[in-house]
Parts: sequence; C-alpha cells; structure tokens
Amino acid sequence: MTLLAIETSCDETSVAVIRDGAVLSGIVSSQIKLHAEYGGVVPELAAREHLRNLIPVAHSALSAAGISVGQLDAVAATQGPGLPNALLVGFKAAQAVAFALNKPFIGINHHEAHLYSPWIESGGGTSAAIFSKFQANVSLIVSGGHTMLVLVESELKHRVLGGTIDDAAGECFDKTGKLMGLPYPAGPLIDQLAEQGDPSAFDFPRPLLHDVSDDFSFSGLKTSVRYFIRDHPALLDDRQKVCDLCASVQAAIVEVLVKKTIHAAKRNGVRCVTASGGVTCNRALRHELTRACEREGFVLRLTEKSLCTDNAAMIGILAERKLLVNVPLPSLDEEIKPGWVLA
Ligand code: KG4
Ligand code: ZN
Repeated sequence: MTLLAIETSCDETSVAVIRDGAVLSGIVSSQIKLHAEYGGVVPELAAREHLRNLIPVAHSALSAAGISVGQLDAVAATQGPGLPNALLVGFKAAQAVAFALNKPFIGINHHEAHLYSPWIESGGGTSAAIFSKFQANVSLIVSGGHTMLVLVESELKHRVLGGTIDDAAGECFDKTGKLMGLPYPAGPLIDQLAEQGDPSAFDFPRPLLHDVSDDFSFSGLKTSVRYFIRDHPALLDDRQKVCDLCASVQAAIVEVLVKKTIHAAKRNGVRCVTASGGVTCNRALRHELTRACEREGFVLRLTEKSLCTDNAAMIGILAERKLLVNVPLPSLDEEIKPGWVLA
C-alpha cells in the first residue's frame, strides 16, 4: 500500500509518503522563525503559512519518494487536536486528493500517532516502523502543547493515564527561558546552556513528583523561577549563572518527567517505556530516561530526534496500520476535531 500523509496541526507543514511500513519520504517545513518574533505560535499566521507551503512540500515529498499522485492507494491527515485553521488546511487538502483519486481517506489523532513514532527506525538511508519489536509500554508524550502518559497495551489499544493540569513541559522550558531573556522557543537553548551549568546550583520545586496520580503540573515551577529572577536580577548578567539556572530548571523538569514515567510503567506492570514529542530532543531527558530504564531493566524506545517534533511520517505509519486492520473509514464529509482528546 502507498499512502500520502499530511500534518498541519500546529506550526510544521509536513507531508510523507509511506509504503508497507517504510517511510519513502518525509518533508517538514518548520515555521519557527516566522513565529519567533511574536514569542509563540500565532494561529492565523500558521494557517496562512500552511496554505503557502503545503503544495510545494507535497511536491517535494512525492518526488523524493519517486511516486506520482496516481500511484497512491490512500490518503491520511491529522484530524485533531490542533489549531482549527491550521488543521483545516491539511485535512481538507487530503480529503480533496482522496476524493479526486476515489481512494480511502483516514483522519488521524495527532497524539495517537506520537505513540507509534518511537517504533520508527532509520537505517541504510530509509526509515521503517519496526512493529515486530512492539511490546506493551508506557508512553510519554511531551511537547510545547502537551505532556501526557499513556498506557499502550497492544498495537492500536491504549488508555491515557494522566496529563498536565496546567502548562506543558515544553511550555515550561519556553516560558522560563523567556524570563531569562532567551528567544522563542527556548527549550533547545536551555538544553545547550545547561551543558555548561550545574544542575544543583539552584533548588526549584518538582511539582506533583510524589503525587499518586499520573498528572503533571509545571506552572508552579515557572512561577518560582519568575520570583527567583525577580529577587536576583543581577544573575542574568553572569553567563555562568545563566547556565546554572538553565541546568537547575532543566533538572527539575526532567526529574519529574522521568520519575513519573518509570512509576507509571511499574504500576501498570509493563517493562517498556517510550517517549516522543519535541521535548524528547532534550539531551538530559534522553540521558536520564536511559539511565532509569537501565536501572529497572526496562526496554526504552526514544523517538529518533528528527521524528520527535511534529511530522507526517508518524501520521502515515499509524494510518497505514489502521487501514491494514480494517478500522471503519470516516466518510469524506468528516470535519476536523480541534479539541480531540485522546481517551
Ligand atoms: O512537538 P513540538 O515540535 O511542538 C508542539 O509543541 O506540539 O515541540 C516543541 C516544544 C517546544 O516547547 C520546544 O521548546 C521544545 O519542544 N523542545 C525542547 C528541545 N527541543 C524542542 N525542549 C527542551 N530541550 C530541547 N532540546
Ligand atoms: Zn505533536
């Protein structure tokens, strides 16, 4: 089966071509620079940029895969959750292609797709979903908009265990970085600066660390960084102190993410942990999750860095899997679901 997948839920315009579990091509056009001057994603600008980029990105994906539109057997797109106007661009374009070709169309939940991205491996210049290695797992989805723990009992069967009750972990990186004067998105910069800092220099709270739930909360941590900077303004003029601050904030976020993930896996009796979403690029998180899983004797599957942030390859891999097991197809007049909550 050859499938075209489109992802436009936020600020990445992405198109991928999938064939029999392999990613023939995956192109991502990021809008980060466009939104940086506003300090966050501006929904209307994101939608207009998707309109501008979608056709060129689709052309590039098809030509990189060596596939013509007529060779497609199915089309998929992100149906939700996401920014309404941004979702509309990719979703309606995908439906139109499916309608014109008279081929199946499938709308995908963006978060469900994140659950399977850790199983996509690259090697020899290609990427493929290695479902033969699949095992029941607890999956951490951690990005700028979301932080959640999901029990994936078997392929296509999952249950959400918990999520953030306020800010997402990526949002906490970005907002505390902004307080330090770092440009948006601050997450990758904090990661870099933290390399030269001391994670025990300053003590910040680890919210809900010992709470029995699988929920997260990061707004209190952000507030305590705000007060800390207000009380020590000179600190921002000292580069080493800024590195120490980055390392200390990062250590607090990472400790909560890692300990709660491991705890959820133990409590649910699974021996495999996976992680995806933009914050999974963070080196300290990757390092600490690796160490914790080694200690517990757990299998760890960290999504490859290029697939951590939003991409159409993960949408296509899940869509193909669903088509192969004959999930009921939505009709072509289905609409986007901007608030689609993973159950
Ligand atoms: O998944 P993503 O591209 O978009 C959504 O938010 O859906 O994630 C972007 C988030 C931003 O908050 C960004 O700061 C964070 O992921 N991020 C990082 C790193 N790379 C991206 N946070 C910490 N360390 C990183 N290396
Ligand atoms: Zn995402």
